[in-house]
Amino acid sequence: MSTAGKPRVLLMHPILDPGPGILAEAAEVIPYPKDQPLDEASIRKAAEGCVGIVSQVKDPIRETVLSTAGLKIVSNVAVGYDNIDVAAATAHKVMVTNTPGVLDDTTSDFAFALLMAAARRVVEADYFTRSGKFKGWEIDMMLGHDVHDATLGIIGIGRIGRGMAHRAKGFNMRVIYYDPNPLLPEAEQQLGATRVDLGRLLAESDFITIHVPLTKDTQHLISTPQFGMMKPTAILINTSRGPVVDEAALADALKTKKIAGAGLDVYEREPAIHPGLITLPNVVLAPHIASGSIRTRSEMSAMAARNMATAVRGGRPPNLLNPEVKK
Ligand code: DGY
Repeated sequence: MSTAGKPRVLLMHPILDPGPGILAEAAEVIPYPKDQPLDEASIRKAAEGCVGIVSQVKDPIRETVLSTAGLKIVSNVAVGYDNIDVAAATAHKVMVTNTPGVLDDTTSDFAFALLMAAARRVVEADYFTRSGKFKGWEIDMMLGHDVHDATLGIIGIGRIGRGMAHRAKGFNMRVIYYDPNPLLPEAEQQLGATRVDLGRLLAESDFITIHVPLTKDTQHLISTPQFGMMKPTAILINTSRGPVVDEAALADALKTKKIAGAGLDVYEREPAIHPGLITLPNVVLAPHIASGSIRTRSEMSAMAARNMATAVRGGRPPNLLNPEVKK
């Protein structure tokens, strides 16, 4: 099919079916040159002449990019959008969209998997077994921490945080949460979750799981003083954004046994990981895959493509983050 006359859209990275088909019906899709770095100046150059950019979490979309003449929309293939300066987008009348809702359960599943893996030392045990160290059952071999009946502290009780509370019920866990916005009493009752302040959550939880967006208020929300308030048996799980946790302070807390363990899917300077974490056995490290089920990544691709297609056809995309741009 000829693409002549269609608006041009820059696709920063390949997306999954049915996303490419949805995009191609509405636009001429320009793939981001593979040999170009992911910096603002290069992205701006590639975006010249495009009305839209389909971006992902590793693409910095800020003033330099957003001021590109003719740019109308940035569609992020993620629920998080801290890689985009939404205020600058609004100032330049550029719409910004994300992919909320479709990845919540998949992300909660993975956060719980990290929690279980860190608690019961699954990755360490696998390595131990593969490397021929298993010489027979022993009473004190690879002892871990019970998940059932333990206290789960949830920082951020949005959709993914609530998914954690829901899963915790099956393990008969006591659930406490910290969030500036309380749940309605009926929701608290249904989830069996009690709101507490952050200090109490840190002091009482056996497992602490983070589900907040990255903002200036949540950057380094968990650092040395907060590790000092946790139990020495506590296990920290982070599937939100790396900079919410001070990674150097975490490496120190794990090394000095201020806390017992951690499970991480996100890092402060992705893809770099603090060297202090790499060598520690009491942390499970994953490469930002919490939303990575086959179905969910396909749904995220479709949603981002539909947001883009709607916008380039002149409509109001369903997941618009700055509605003031499109009255
Ligand atoms: C998101 O959607 O924000 C994740 O971090 C990537 O799936």
